[in-house]
Amino acid sequence: MSLTPIGGLAGLPGHDQPRQKVTAASLRERKLHHEPIACLTAYDYATARLVDEAGIEMILVGDSLAQTILGYENTLSVTMDEMLHHVKAVRRGVKRGLLLADMPYGSYQIDPNDALRNATRFVKEGGAEVVKIEGGEKRADLIRRIIDAEIPVAGHIGLTPQSVNVMGGYKVQGKDLSGVEQLMRDALALDRAGVACIVLEGIPREVAGMITAEVGTPTIGIGAGPECDGQVLVFHDLLNLTFAPPAKFVRRYGDAAALISDAVRAFRDDVKSLHYPSDEESYHLPKETKAGLETVLARKRAMVR
Ligand code: KIV
Repeated sequence: MSLTPIGGLAGLPGHDQPRQKVTAASLRERKLHHEPIACLTAYDYATARLVDEAGIEMILVGDSLAQTILGYENTLSVTMDEMLHHVKAVRRGVKRGLLLADMPYGSYQIDPNDALRNATRFVKEGGAEVVKIEGGEKRADLIRRIIDAEIPVAGHIGLTPQSVNVMGGYKVQGKDLSGVEQLMRDALALDRAGVACIVLEGIPREVAGMITAEVGTPTIGIGAGPECDGQVLVFHDLLNLTFAPPAKFVRRYGDAAALISDAVRAFRDDVKSLHYPSDEESYHLPKETKAGLETVLARKRAMVR
């Protein structure tokens, strides 16, 4: 008979509470209990493991990978197949966090049937648990349709990077009264459509605060101030891997660019100065083989003489 209580040893002195799988539904509970939600992007297996194991609740395979990983000018060029490739890699690294996949530009704007097919691919082939779609009021019907197909959706309003050409650049949104009204309408439309969360990007903190108080859906801010229910940052911004000056809202928690450059330069110097590899870093013949080899070589040398 097992003496381990039902539910394991969690809660008993000396035993940490095991971290439970984060689900789309559990995000709402976090909002209700005023528990801030942390979200980061990840685009590959190793990063996904580190981010997940550090206790980040939401892991987003953002279309920002167009710039951070693939070196495109903006997010508009990245395709469904490119996104899926990264979603699959991240899926293999994430166990506890909620895995979100960004629907890339062109994958949901043209035809609702295509949109549904593409959202389904992220779930079926990629293992995503939520798909993210940019846009508010005008996407509400489509979002309802995707949710009807049992796929949770994350909304994304404010500075929506896929609208860069319409916005005329990456500009903070909702700075005048009509902009504030539009943002509020967008947030309410997404709330009514039943999204799992709403990403608020690049909007004044006062507006983000009003939206967060108004909707039951958790809001996840990026450049939207501290009143949101959670915060998201791009992994490469957090670690100085973007080759560009950071936006106002970015806080750098480490300098991976310096770490990588120093390590790569040190390797290059060691190779050039014959300091790498050392004897300890080399494989060796077993004693008997080495002795046998020396005998053979000695015989060969004797024959040449
Ligand atoms: O693509 C992305 O990384 C995003 C976040 C900035 C929210 O959409």
